[in-house]
Amino acid sequence: MKALVIGNGGREHALAWKLLQSPQVSEVVCIPGNGGTATLAGCRNLALNPSDFEGIARVALVNNLSLVVVGPEQPLADGIVDALQAEGLAVFGPSQAGAQIEASKAWAKDLMAAAGIPTAAAATFTEAAPAIAYVEAQGAPIVVKADGLAAGKGVTVAQSVEEAKAAIAAAFGGQFGAAGQRLVIEEYLTGQEASVLAVTDGLTIRPLVPAQDHKPIGEGDTGPNTGGMGAYAPTPVVPPELLDRVQTTILEPAIAALRDRGIDYRGVLYAGLMITPDGTPKVVEFNCRFGDPETQVILPLLETPLDDILLACIEQRLEDLPPIEWKAQAAACVVAAAAGYPGSHEKGMTISGLEAATEAGAVVFHGGTQFKGGQVLAYGGRVLGVTALGDSFGAALQRAYGAIAAIEFDGIYYRKDIGYRVRDWGQ
Ligand SMILES: Nc1ncnc2c1ncn2[C@@H]1O[C@H](COP(=O)(O)OP(=O)(O)O)[C@@H](O)[C@H]1O
Ligand SMILES: [Mg+2]
Repeated sequence: MKALVIGNGGREHALAWKLLQSPQVSEVVCIPGNGGTATLAGCRNLALNPSDFEGIARVALVNNLSLVVVGPEQPLADGIVDALQAEGLAVFGPSQAGAQIEASKAWAKDLMAAAGIPTAAAATFTEAAPAIAYVEAQGAPIVVKADGLAAGKGVTVAQSVEEAKAAIAAAFGGQFGAAGQRLVIEEYLTGQEASVLAVTDGLTIRPLVPAQDHKPIGEGDTGPNTGGMGAYAPTPVVPPELLDRVQTTILEPAIAALRDRGIDYRGVLYAGLMITPDGTPKVVEFNCRFGDPETQVILPLLETPLDDILLACIEQRLEDLPPIEWKAQAAACVVAAAAGYPGSHEKGMTISGLEAATEAGAVVFHGGTQFKGGQVLAYGGRVLGVTALGDSFGAALQRAYGAIAAIEFDGIYYRKDIGYRVRDWGQ
């Protein structure tokens, strides 16, 4: 079987890498891919735009690509799955209607309310004056969220009413374009965040190993948020009993509520959770696709061939799939970013030491890289995700840090404290 992966980040490199480990998968094509997928044996890139659904369908049909996996949320929200399915292709990912669970936070809140899913109390606004009156009445801290997709920049956790009012003014002033013309303003939750990614065929839903990531750029989880500076799995913050509770109070009701809306949701349903101080898991947001960097620590632990799982979802026979199997190990990923990220940063730096990192026992997933003239060059803000397994989190982290130390490019930056919450866990 030949597969097609849509996207160009670390998540897509990890998906292509995992698919190629399956005995059934002979080749993976990435659109557009990155320097990692360009240099991965069995994988090749095609320089098409992920928004060119017609061109992608043609390439998939002509090349006999019989399994399509969509990485990023934007093409899902734009209806790539509907477009490719109409051409008879087998595509893993929700329809445009299903992708609303991520593409509209207000829509997701309504769905959660209808299904009785635990989440922060919230209200939705399309005008500034009532939004401001609401935050004045509620007080701070309070959370202001752009309704639509905002590349991870649409949320302000406001510590004061003034800060919340500034976020409201900025959003209605056009900071996030159309995505910020509707706002969800919600109760501030405390606790530990965790990510539970689950696969579903619209009827059955099965969680993958739970993960945690580090969003802030700085050590000690300080400074501005990024796409994620590191991750680890399976996080002990979500032990098996809690995962069962997430399954029955969040994942199953969500799929049932989607069905009630006539949505046959097949793909990843990713619950971003806050484990509140009394132990109740509450939904911070839903995503409609694999997480990045969570995927870089989840997939290396997976024993079941990935294509078996994805096809069972597409063909709506997940109930009959044997239990998903996992390595009894810990996985950790440390992200190497370009200097200046998440602000503006340099591009085009040569990366060295990738082979030495692999020899040190890590898998290096590429994010913003390109393969040009026989060299791997840094282009994106998050350049590489250096992932390692170990018999404990301490061992996995030690291996990942040993490997990343071998890698060099001008201005390389990575946090030295990834996994500080679990470093000594199980030792
Ligand atoms: N209700 C909340 N209480 C406290 N923190 C929150 C809340 N909602 C969001 N956050 C913080 O903001 C981050 C981003 O919010 P999220 O809803 O995940 O939006 P997105 O990922 O689309 O930017 C979360 O990971 C969390 O750290
Ligand atoms: Mg989020």
